[in-house]
Amino acid sequence: MIPRDTIQSILDAARIEEVVGDFVQLKRRGVNLLGLCPFHNEKTPSFTVSPAKGIFKCFGCGKAGNAVNFVMEHEKYSYPEALRYLASKYGIEVEEQEPSPEEKQQDTDRDSLFSLNDFARKFYVNTLFETEEGKAIGLSYFLERGFREDIIRKFQLGFSPTAWDTFTKTALQNGYSEKYLVDSGLTISKDGKHYDRFRERVMFPIHNLTGKVIGFGGRILTSDKTKPKYVNSPESEVYNKSKSLYGIWLARNSIVARDNCFLVEGYTDVISLHQSGIENVVASSGTSLTTDQIRLISKFTRNITILYDGDPAGIKASFRGIDMILEQGMNVKVVLFPDGEDPDSYARKHSSSDLEGFISTNSDDFIAFKTRLLLDETQNDPVKKAGLIHEIIHTISLIPDPIIRPLFIRECAEIMQIAEQTLMNELNKLLRKKKLKGYESESQEQIPEPVIIAPPQELAPDISDCSAQ
Ligand code: GTP
Ligand code: MN
Repeated sequence: MIPRDTIQSILDAARIEEVVGDFVQLKRRGVNLLGLCPFHNEKTPSFTVSPAKGIFKCFGCGKAGNAVNFVMEHEKYSYPEALRYLASKYGIEVEEQEPSPEEKQQDTDRDSLFSLNDFARKFYVNTLFETEEGKAIGLSYFLERGFREDIIRKFQLGFSPTAWDTFTKTALQNGYSEKYLVDSGLTISKDGKHYDRFRERVMFPIHNLTGKVIGFGGRILTSDKTKPKYVNSPESEVYNKSKSLYGIWLARNSIVARDNCFLVEGYTDVISLHQSGIENVVASSGTSLTTDQIRLISKFTRNITILYDGDPAGIKASFRGIDMILEQGMNVKVVLFPDGEDPDSYARKHSSSDLEGFISTNSDDFIAFKTRLLLDETQNDPVKKAGLIHEIIHTISLIPDPIIRPLFIRECAEIMQIAEQTLMNELNKLLRKKKLKGYESESQEQIPEPVIIAPPQELAPDISDCSAQ
């Protein structure tokens, strides 16, 4: 028996086009890939692979399924054998075990939490559209912000009532147990009393890849500075913050079709971009970007464009994002919005085509981005210029593909007007140092002291731990 967590990791890691691609030559055809069916004899390809849906289907012989089904069929493996094959392909360790009573309990827990979250979603939507309070406070807020009703419905936005325990009471009356109310974080239990975590906030449900609600973010509507602007659900059996991306369930098809994913900071950025017709967008809401989130995107595309606010915090977050994305072997571009604007506010002030135009003319690769930000301040100072070069070379050294690294070295040499060979030597020095220390112990210490001129005066607030408030 393979533990459920491990099966999930295998399914998460397996990209259908890679799994099939080991056996069948595939060519891109629109959002799909096409090849000759390995299950029947054919001269013209009718075997289709959909990276967005994670499935294959042959329109000739009718065989269809996901990555596991493909391996079972092609290699004549049993289900566990196919899982083990995929685990080894993706370097995932499999420890076999008997399902424990706890694991069986976990399954029940997950189902119960999904069901309760879905009930809560409907409750908050209903409160927004059908109650006087919801309409007067919540709906009017969204409409004033410029969200169209179809978009509010698409994102299943809602409103939580002002009273202390309206939701908890309603859920209990509807047969939901106190245990799951507390586990989901929807209800807070204190000194034997129960009250709602979310009160008088507009509600943003957070969905998993398949569109099930796993948690919520609630935005305050007053300008009360003593309270956090957003309150988020705590982690639970179904909500792992570092592995979730806001908007992924609505974005996945568009990410594949455009072969690019826009990464923004907030819920409202995702929603506004959709309203402007841009759907390949997700946010790492409530936490700073994690490697697991990048891996989730990599199931659909190798290309990420970071769209952040051009303030110091946004710049700092972009620097961090660039390094993390490159380390995963993916391509990254950056668009900074004018200081103080985020994609949401920009989208509100400009037409869809202006927004598209702004993004495409301001997309920089990471070298152009870093140099553009830092060059002005380093131009007349050779020591600072050297620091900037080290900084860029450090970032290049994170790229796993040895064929791609020299391409960026060349670009850096051109922009900085310095001999390519000199940069190459520096890069190799850095790579040797890393190898000596071992990749696993790779840490900040080896990074040559970077010169970051623009960002540091104000650091991004750590928002990851505000959620319990
Ligand atoms: P608006 O001000 O309504 O435009 O919201 P925003 O989404 O643009 O918020 P902002 O740019 O301030 O923050 C970006 C994201 O960080 C938000 O969408 C939240 O996910 C998160 N965030 C912001 N403030 C808080 C907070 O006080 N607590 C927590 N947990 N998360 C926050
Ligand atoms: Mn905003």
